[in-house]
Amino acid sequence: MVDINIEETLQRLSLDDKVALLSGVDFWHTKALPEYGVPSIRLSDGPNGIRGTRFFNSVPAACFPCGTALGATFNQELLQEAGRKMGEEALAKNVHVILGPTINMQRSPLGGRGFESIGEDPFLAGLGAAALVRGIQSTGVQATIKHFVCNEQEHKRNSVQSIVTERALREIYALPFQLVVRDSQPGAFMTAYNGLNGTFCSENRKLMEDILRKEWAWKGLVMSDWCGLYSTVEAVKAGLDLEMPGPPAFRGNLLKFAVTSGKVWPHIIDNRVREVLAFVQRCAASGAKENGPEGTKNTPETAALLRKIGNEGIVLLKNEAVLPLVTHKKTLVIGPNAKVATYSGGGSASLNPYYTVTPYDGIRQKLGSIPAYTIGAYTHKMLPLIGSQMLPRDGKAGMSWKVYNEAPGTASRRPVDELWLTNTEIYLADYTNPRIGDLWYADLEGTLVVEEDGLYDFGLVVCGTAKLFINEELLVDNATQQTLGDAFFGAGTIEVHGRINLQKAERYRVKVEFGSAPTFTLKPNTVMVGSGSLRVGCCQVIDAQQEIQKAVQLAREHEQVIICGGLNADWESESSDRSSMKLPGLLDQLIAEVAAANPKTVVVMQTGTPEEMPWLDTTPAVIQAWYGGNETGNSIADVLFGDYNPSGKLSLSFPKRLQDVPSFLNFRTEAGRTLYGEDIYLGYRYYEFAETEVNFPFGHGLSYTTFAFSDIAIQVTEETVSATFQIHNTGSLRGAEVAQMYIQPVRPAKVKRPIKELKGFSKVELEAGECREVVIQVAEKYAASYFDEERNQWCVEAGDYKVVISDSSAITEGKAVEGCFRVEKTYWWSGI
Ligand code: BGC
Repeated sequence: MVDINIEETLQRLSLDDKVALLSGVDFWHTKALPEYGVPSIRLSDGPNGIRGTRFFNSVPAACFPCGTALGATFNQELLQEAGRKMGEEALAKNVHVILGPTINMQRSPLGGRGFESIGEDPFLAGLGAAALVRGIQSTGVQATIKHFVCNEQEHKRNSVQSIVTERALREIYALPFQLVVRDSQPGAFMTAYNGLNGTFCSENRKLMEDILRKEWAWKGLVMSDWCGLYSTVEAVKAGLDLEMPGPPAFRGNLLKFAVTSGKVWPHIIDNRVREVLAFVQRCAASGAKENGPEGTKNTPETAALLRKIGNEGIVLLKNEAVLPLVTHKKTLVIGPNAKVATYSGGGSASLNPYYTVTPYDGIRQKLGSIPAYTIGAYTHKMLPLIGSQMLPRDGKAGMSWKVYNEAPGTASRRPVDELWLTNTEIYLADYTNPRIGDLWYADLEGTLVVEEDGLYDFGLVVCGTAKLFINEELLVDNATQQTLGDAFFGAGTIEVHGRINLQKAERYRVKVEFGSAPTFTLKPNTVMVGSGSLRVGCCQVIDAQQEIQKAVQLAREHEQVIICGGLNADWESESSDRSSMKLPGLLDQLIAEVAAANPKTVVVMQTGTPEEMPWLDTTPAVIQAWYGGNETGNSIADVLFGDYNPSGKLSLSFPKRLQDVPSFLNFRTEAGRTLYGEDIYLGYRYYEFAETEVNFPFGHGLSYTTFAFSDIAIQVTEETVSATFQIHNTGSLRGAEVAQMYIQPVRPAKVKRPIKELKGFSKVELEAGECREVVIQVAEKYAASYFDEERNQWCVEAGDYKVVISDSSAITEGKAVEGCFRVEKTYWWSGI
């Protein structure tokens, strides 16, 4: 039990001690001062699982569905349970602090990290994240809400100033954070890399002191994003407590100088240290052991929960009498996402999953027989990773990885580290080994046997240098001529390819010689390099049109067809935004032609954010399956075959094309800034206001049963608006419906306002024919207000407000009920 008397400790600490507490000691730990009873605290990503202390060769973990999938459950109880499981996962790894949830907004489908955040609506994101935080913190582990604030794009994320009106800041971007503070008191906040209106978030007094600590009366620790602190004096004065990671770039001696020269007063340092000590105290109460071992908790209960969350997040977008599929029919599975488990997006959210289930395996389980399969089209951005295609050792596909101090060719060199790697995406930012210096080498070696004669592509991405040899012959040289790309947080090269003819059943020796970061011939404009990185991929060369024709022919010969497509962690990843909203490769053509060939075709779309769907009108069934975590294939198969009746609702609008997206003109850093020109009109707030047709609206999601709402009554008591109504399962199957509460000002307000806004939701599971009374409540001040820039306060204007309970943001006759309440007198408020 850690018991720190904060004020007494502050009296005893030297300036050196205090300064040391204000930054990390390595990538994932804070400074311990054992002589004062202050332990070191361990932090770990977040937001869809707990990776632990290593990017490279990390200890396996439970992978939860991505943020947009969590949002699509619209189920606060379930998210709280998910949070609790995340807390338990953290404790198994002796982690005190989870770096999540992420609640930035999806301004554009192109945002590289859109998949991480919960959704485009501040209430969905705020209430969803608050539920996760309550769950996490019920285990004693602390949650870190991130990234505060207006970090909606990856393009030049460290230098961009987001230019945002005060109203949009408050009503859209800061509101989810405000709701999380109100409903769950998260232990920590992480500042965003970017700046807001001219001041970096990590040194923004208005954000950290005026809004967060004074207006919202939040108590907790503010940390920087990793290498997202850009000043010594400004940041510490503005309220940023902890610089991460360590060793520090801006604190340490620099901060000491700032104090001794009087640029920062000692009481400012004390304020920061006070927060760190209070936080350490809270973290230590979790019971996580200081620098404890990283274990796992891969239990059947975890698997069941992940499958349930996966089930509840999947959205049935369209179904013209195709779904659910039946197990006795002749089934064909097509698509680039069928035989890989697309379980997570990329970047710091990614982790090493306990296990994964591919959609193909999930479907095969249901059928009890082996379905026909063909790939149909390639959609990869980088070649599929080679590790899982290599011959196994001890039953595990992969390659051996041997680390040396000496360069290849040095006589009698001996490895100083040896591992067997299935994952050949190797990010060495946090790799440490006492037996090596900065400059070192590694050989990655294994045996490849291909199933078909043909041409094969091999690819290397590296931060450092790498050469790939097949049977000792050099095939890919990514050492001599290097070009910078966007992989590995912007520190890696583009993928360099080599092509070779391989014969079926022959054994090929594949070897990659790697040199660590100091051998890199390029100087990337990023600080998160560590020892470097390496990615090795391989796949057979295909004739794209012939593959489509093969798939079409097979589709004609089968009774039902499942196309598994979408994106993956290379396309949707931290550190780069996408350049297009179109699906990659010839996937659109494949879907259109297969759907034309077989009317019993269903598309399973695995993306974190929306894509254009030019084939939608002629494709009878589509499900949105996101990145579904370990159980992704099982969750998908459950929905396809009706073992789970779909209940997910879109956590963001699915526009028809990129040009329709309100941020279309402004989603990029130019001249050091990104203008949030669409203001408060993000997502459905814009599409409704501008009457722009979308493929699928926010909140949309079908079921295999039907529901009806009725008998609505609205009451306002003690400043709370309550909507009471009946929900009826009018179909013949058990299922769950999400009642969504939208508030709509009836007469024009002083300022322009969105047509209506989500203010609450409730998910109800009902037997066939069952009817239940449901109540959704929201504080009147949140239900009715807009942010009044003239007074810098929220304004609740007198007038009538419609309360709409609906199954989607698109209101359809028979699928919604309406009530009304009146605010007699205009008033203003601040705080939470
Ligand atoms: C990300 C954070 C993450 C941190 C640590 C940063 O690049 O922006 O979200 O928590 O790295 O991995």
